Amino acid sequence: MNIIEVREANISDAQFIAILGRVTFSENFSHFFKDSNDLLEYYNRTFSVEKIRKSIDNSNNVFCIAFVNELPVGYAKLKLNSPSEFLKSKNTSQLQKIYVLKDFLSLKIGLELQTKLIEKATRHGSQLIWLSVLKSNHRAIQFYKKMVL
Ligand SMILES: CC(C)(COP(=O)(O)OP(=O)(O)OC[C@H]1O[C@@H](n2cnc3c(N)ncnc32)[C@H](O)[C@@H]1OP(=O)(O)O)[C@@H](O)C(=O)NCCC(=O)NCCS
Repeated sequence: MNIIEVREANISDAQFIAILGRVTFSENFSHFFKDSNDLLEYYNRTFSVEKIRKSIDNSNNVFCIAFVNELPVGYAKLKLNSPSEFLKSKNTSQLQKIYVLKDFLSLKIGLELQTKLIEKATRHGSQLIWLSVLKSNHRAIQFYKKMVL
């Protein structure tokens, strides 16, 4: 039996989030990079532990992390108070990232991560949550459609 735990992340999770960010980015987007040096440079710029630590420490961001049998397998990031040019309401939050490692995609962990962030956004008083997704990402689009209230 798998024991799944999803909780809000804190600064001491920065190393987990950094490596999850890097590996899930590689699993999903590395094929878009022709030059592996560009990819390495992007990883170092975007997923350094120091950068992630600062981002978790920013009170406008909420990170959640998922564990399966204590192993970190996914994370999600919500940006509070993030308006969109496509929405009239200014009281909106943005689901900026939600990524589960490929090996664990069958466990419905995306739903647990998203539910936690929606709870947090609701408590914060957000009226809407918005996000961007690649048109080609059919699985994510199916997933988001299930969450539309
Ligand atoms: C997006 C993500 C967080 C969703 O979490 P999840 O736990 O996989 O979501 P679910 O399994 O609940 O829902 C996915 C739905 O898409 C369906 N699906 C699976 N593969 C699919 C595909 N190739 N095309 C279309 N639909 C697909 C599933 O059947 C499921 O619907 P169902 O519950 O009605 O059967 C997760 O898939 C993920 O981390 N993907 C890789 C990273 C990513 O794309 N992140 C989002 C960037 S915007």
